Amino acid sequence: MTTAAPALSLTDRASYDHAVEQALAASAAYYGDGDTTLDDASYDVLARGIAAYELAHPDHVRADSPTGKVSGGVGDVAHTVAMLSLDNVFDAEGLVKWDASLARRIDHPVEGGYAVEPKLDGAAMAARYRDGRLVQLVGRGNGTHGEDLSHAIGSIIGLPAQVPGGATVEIRGEVLLTRDQFEKANEIRAAHHAKVFSNPRNGTAGTLRAKDRPYTIKTTFFAYGALELDGAGFLTGTSHEAVMSQVAALGVQTTSATDIGLRVYATLAQAQARVEEIQQLRPELPFGIDGVVIKANDYAEQQAAGFGTRHPHWAIAYKLPPVEAQTKLLAVEWNIGRTGHIAPRAVLEPVEVDGSTVTYATLHNPAFIRNSDLKVGDTVLLYKAGDIIPRVEAPVVTLRTGEETDIVLPEACPGCGGDIDKSGERWECAGGASGGCGKIPSLRYAVGRDQLDIDGLGVTYLEALVEAGLVDDVADLFFLTREQLAEATGSDKRADSLLVQLAKAKKQPLSRVFCALGVVRTGRTLSREIARHFGTMDAIRAATADELAEVNKLPGANAPKIAAHVATLGPVIDKLAKAGVNMVEPAADDADTVSKPLAGETVVVTGGMHGPLAGRNRNEMNELIERAAGTASSSVSKKTTILVAGEGAGSKLAKAEQLGTRVLTEDEFAALVADYLA
Ligand code: IVH
Repeated sequence: MTTAAPALSLTDRASYDHAVEQALAASAAYYGDGDTTLDDASYDVLARGIAAYELAHPDHVRADSPTGKVSGGVGDVAHTVAMLSLDNVFDAEGLVKWDASLARRIDHPVEGGYAVEPKLDGAAMAARYRDGRLVQLVGRGNGTHGEDLSHAIGSIIGLPAQVPGGATVEIRGEVLLTRDQFEKANEIRAAHHAKVFSNPRNGTAGTLRAKDRPYTIKTTFFAYGALELDGAGFLTGTSHEAVMSQVAALGVQTTSATDIGLRVYATLAQAQARVEEIQQLRPELPFGIDGVVIKANDYAEQQAAGFGTRHPHWAIAYKLPPVEAQTKLLAVEWNIGRTGHIAPRAVLEPVEVDGSTVTYATLHNPAFIRNSDLKVGDTVLLYKAGDIIPRVEAPVVTLRTGEETDIVLPEACPGCGGDIDKSGERWECAGGASGGCGKIPSLRYAVGRDQLDIDGLGVTYLEALVEAGLVDDVADLFFLTREQLAEATGSDKRADSLLVQLAKAKKQPLSRVFCALGVVRTGRTLSREIARHFGTMDAIRAATADELAEVNKLPGANAPKIAAHVATLGPVIDKLAKAGVNMVEPAADDADTVSKPLAGETVVVTGGMHGPLAGRNRNEMNELIERAAGTASSSVSKKTTILVAGEGAGSKLAKAEQLGTRVLTEDEFAALVADYLA
């Protein structure tokens, strides 16, 4: 599944010295303001290279070598029991070897099952409860002594200040910033003119260490272990799972409360299968994980296996491929979106992240460029998980050579050369979508699969049609002649098939026609809501901002903007109507609605669709749900009444099971809505 992290080959003393200094600088920066100069994977490679060199040249080992200490953030609180780290494996083969060595140590194969839980990517923390009160927080430090972090009590979600039953126990776990907390933290820091955190892990370290700040940043705790404190005899459970239940009963959040949960499997093969599932779930998680932890569940087996100097023998970290990497920022491009949004894009030295090569990444907006002090030529930290668009997090300032150059922000719209509206954080072409620059993106959007679905009308042909002066807006497409289409596409055959597509597009429901207009602040879901609410294009055009604000799911503040844009689109809409494009949403009269199969149901779809539903994307599934009178939703909550679980369903399925939501297979769902599959 994954390959081992590569090692760095250090051949001479000078390169060894250089590597040690690089690692020390990274560690100092990390434990200084929480901002690392190296990503995790690069640090790993460096540390392995240093360790390998030291093994071969024991007389060259430096006293300050990072291999000699666990970390730089040493404090003075003695740990009850040393806080060790976990040994790593990178693939199924490594896991099997770990299991074999575990079986040797305990003299028989594991019998009490394997506990599988996420390896949370934050900072390790010991929380001491005495007589039911949270009295001290201790960071990991060097493993035997850690820093006192008690000042953070009250700001960590999942670690209540008081627990029932007067419990005395030490709970260990990971503190992290969820993605939402990370964004919130950076908003707060930007408002206080503090440097923004480059990623959640660094943000956690920086937040925990900080005292006396004029603002509070909330973090989140998940427990993954517990120890006796003061010989109080609190821990009566005889397995990891049982003890974690005891901890959860105190109201302390444990790994069970994560979207992945804590599961126990009888066999190693099942644990391995779960690792693969977790890898699939990773992009959807609300926080970062850097692996999966597998533990012998039974305490007697844990005890029999025992500890090495640095790691327990009864647990292993199955590392997942890093989602962070470092690479060079070669240039910045400015692209224009369908509504005239001018977005900066990083052109990067290609780098492998999470199984694919990344060459471009988003730079968010000009404010991000300004605030992060990014320069062309910088080494940058890059983040990519699953199918989330890769993003540049921050420059690695310590790796600057002096050759870097400032990023030039555009003076004029790069599309049409006109003015830029810089009033918001996002810059927009002052001409908007109707200005020349937004034309191609807005036409591409209009003919897209979820709007008019005009197959075969790609950007090259659209550009040819616009350049020939034949098309100015979406409505013009419907007036094109066979000759004009043949000229633009260079083929009579293509022209004929496009004419068929255009004829088909005229019959699309109002929701898709309206969506194709690319009205500001609207997308597919809202377009369907608006179309259903008003029924006809005329009614939408006649609606006031107040009337628009009544539409379900429409943020009220957006209504005036939508109304104003619809008004400016009057001539385009008139032209569409003249071309014979449908302007009505198929009616769903109430009497009829109740008899439809999904009446009153709130449906969430997860995983890939096969069988009769094959090839439908989420938007098409949502349309299907709504045709059958259901409400489509994207996340599972108490309101969800049906979850359709396709291939690879993960955290949403787990949540639905937890909530007791009705779960249907693809086939069961297809049968339920069979009459609406057309
Ligand atoms: S168990 C005796 N479980 O990973 C060590 N650790 O290198 C027991 N971590 O410093 C650790 N998630 O902070 C354990 N579910 C999990 C974890 C976890 C994250 C961290 C932990 C430790 C590091 C191991």
